[in-house]
Amino acid sequence: MPHLACKSTSRPWCSGAGICKIELVPLVPPYIESLRPYEAGRTIESVRKEYGLTRVAKLASNENPLGASPKAIDAMTRCLGSLHLYPNGGLDLREVLADEFDLKVENVITGSGSEGIMSNIIRAFLCDEDEVLTTEAAFIGFQVLAKSRGVKYRTVPYRDWHYDLTALAGEINANTKIIYLANPNNPTGTIFTKHQFDEFYKHVPERVLIILDEAYFEYAKDNPRYPDSMHYRYDNVITLRTFSKIYGLAGVRIGYGFAHQELIRNLLKVKLPFEPSTPAQAAGIGALADKEFLHRSLELNARGLRCLTEGLAGVGLTVVPSEANFVMTVLPSEQEAGRVFEELLMQGVVVRPLKAFGLPHCLRISTGSDEDNQLCVQALRRAYATDTRATRHS
Ligand SMILES: Cc1ncc(COP(=O)(O)O)c(C=O)c1O
Repeated sequence: MPHLACKSTSRPWCSGAGICKIELVPLVPPYIESLRPYEAGRTIESVRKEYGLTRVAKLASNENPLGASPKAIDAMTRCLGSLHLYPNGGLDLREVLADEFDLKVENVITGSGSEGIMSNIIRAFLCDEDEVLTTEAAFIGFQVLAKSRGVKYRTVPYRDWHYDLTALAGEINANTKIIYLANPNNPTGTIFTKHQFDEFYKHVPERVLIILDEAYFEYAKDNPRYPDSMHYRYDNVITLRTFSKIYGLAGVRIGYGFAHQELIRNLLKVKLPFEPSTPAQAAGIGALADKEFLHRSLELNARGLRCLTEGLAGVGLTVVPSEANFVMTVLPSEQEAGRVFEELLMQGVVVRPLKAFGLPHCLRISTGSDEDNQLCVQALRRAYATDTRATRHS
């Protein structure tokens, strides 16, 4: 265990010799010790300061460049007078969601972002001997949550940057308890189709819980090949969605899930009683009513995907076709990914390196405003115009 630096030796948990007693106790299980804390992307302000820039495009976290839904902001503002009261555990938003998606309220859960619900799923349903199965380089949030439970975490490789559902089905064993599928997937941006999911589902025993993470649902839902999980409503499938992406509420922490009422009933037992917060719940209700904002966000995103895809291809990079609000590019090596990341950063464009996901030779770029997308493409062109790759690699 690394040395614990205490500022004061007068604290009761420190020995006089300045060595924390806590060091003597193996407090941290190996599966926690081996994790790395989440590293937030660079802030606009820190990049601006470090490189002396006037404009910075943050295209690293799949956020909505239009900001938050105005109706969500209105709704949040209206609830500020009741901040001294405890929230009602998400019930208001659950009722609105049930209405919107034609469900019973017993089939709906809300939480502190969809990751908050994911965390509760792991807590509620996984036992020590259970196993989790997913793709390689899955959404980092899920990787960390599942690994922090200390259960066996198994993956199968991508097939052409898509989930290989056939291979996943072949890997299900007697201990498999949770299968995690993100559709569209982060970081690749790809989807699996209705047909592929139908085939896959035939091989999944009812005792296995499928988490269908649809954080980017709104971006893909108009694709006729996209399997909207709400058309399935299988007993062992839990759908997760979020207000963080298209509704622009990442900073508020509000997400939701749909599932069989027995699953929801058990999730409600383990969730923090007062999540989501009152403003978060209000924001979700406001956002759901903001169809105009949704429409504008989709249009901007479609332009952004075109611009970034063409821009990346234009400098000769491999781009994975995306159904979400970001694109993934595959570079020849980790060094080259590092070089492009740094060169973009110096020009005020922050993108996401994917080493932590398990793809060190890839970068992920979120769609931004039209201006930010242009800035990114120009920065890419400059990074390749002064192309010193040959010498750098030599
Ligand atoms: C696939 C996927 N699931 C879930 C999340 C987390 O969303 P939330 O902000 O609702 O916790 C993200 C965020 O990046 C994501 O990409």
